Amino acid sequence: MRAEDFILKNYNSSIENGSVKWSSPSNIALIKYWGKRENQIPENPSISFTLSNCKTITEVTYTKKETSDFSFEVHFEGKKNEAFEPKIRTFFERVEDYVPFLRDYHFKIDTANTFPHSSGIASSASGMSALALCLMSIEQELGADDTLDYFNKKASFLARLGSGSACRSIEGELVVWGQNESTESSDLYGIKFDGDLHPNFKNYQDTILLVDKGEKQVSSTVGHKLMFGHPFATQRFAQAHDNLAKLKTVLESGDLKAFVKIVESEALTLHAMMMTSIPYFILMKPNTLQIINKIWEFRVANNSNICFTLDAGANVHVLYPENEKDSILEFIKNELAAYCQNGHFITDHVGNGAELIKK
Ligand code: PMV
Repeated sequence: MRAEDFILKNYNSSIENGSVKWSSPSNIALIKYWGKRENQIPENPSISFTLSNCKTITEVTYTKKETSDFSFEVHFEGKKNEAFEPKIRTFFERVEDYVPFLRDYHFKIDTANTFPHSSGIASSASGMSALALCLMSIEQELGADDTLDYFNKKASFLARLGSGSACRSIEGELVVWGQNESTESSDLYGIKFDGDLHPNFKNYQDTILLVDKGEKQVSSTVGHKLMFGHPFATQRFAQAHDNLAKLKTVLESGDLKAFVKIVESEALTLHAMMMTSIPYFILMKPNTLQIINKIWEFRVANNSNICFTLDAGANVHVLYPENEKDSILEFIKNELAAYCQNGHFITDHVGNGAELIKK
């Protein structure tokens, strides 16, 4: 599919108003997307587990208007929120060619997250995918006769233009984004992992340890730019392709030990890229390292398959198979929670993607 295929050509402009509502989850990358070209095209492929509990719920109410400008208001957790407007305006500008009805209506966007706003968890993946899905439902209400496959691909395509990783939140359980030779893939949208997922990876658990709930030290926009002219960029992008090929085999064979090695190496490589760019950043906090060391000790002492991954921040995602859930949750409560801000962590697991709430 090409970008042009996503342009909505005809729609029923006599519809006066309506409202749609979606819930869309966050996701956690196993192979990390870090670096992009123009139009949000990734420099390397990535794959993520779709999460289940960490999600954004967004309702969009649309009302016909006469003027031809963009007109919208954003309400976050019940209160009008102007801070979100610039990001949504940029999103509208990027996607308007594909959903041309954006200028015909006033949009009231009511949005809320199931996780605390100031938790340091990236809400852009769940937030932008929820909004993209609402636009797709409006497209349908205006008469488009999209197949489910087209609907999901275009929702992911639109979400990508809001936030790259958001394109991996439409479906579950694993989604690949970025052209590569090992899996069915596209640079324009996320695609469900085409491999035969081994039962070891079913309902995989992710407990998010909130080490630092503050504002992100490096925004994604700044972060991706650090890969321009980065001395290790070429190697890193090639490595992501290799790691994806290896991970595909592992996801099919069920080799948990190999999974741990690839996933932890990817997380540390992401941070290594930030430590070796100009300007350079250290996004881990002392407690991030304490947690990593504790996880390594626990893994050896218990012959466990527990491992960690990191996003572009200090929080730690603890990943583990479902059959180790009880012992690892005990370990987290007894030993790791002490390194979290106010002892705060969020338990989550792999999910099946976004859900339509109202149409
Ligand atoms: O979607 P963005 O532009 O916020 O980038 C997110 C990048 C990472 O979370 C660090 C990695 C990833 O693949 O999700």
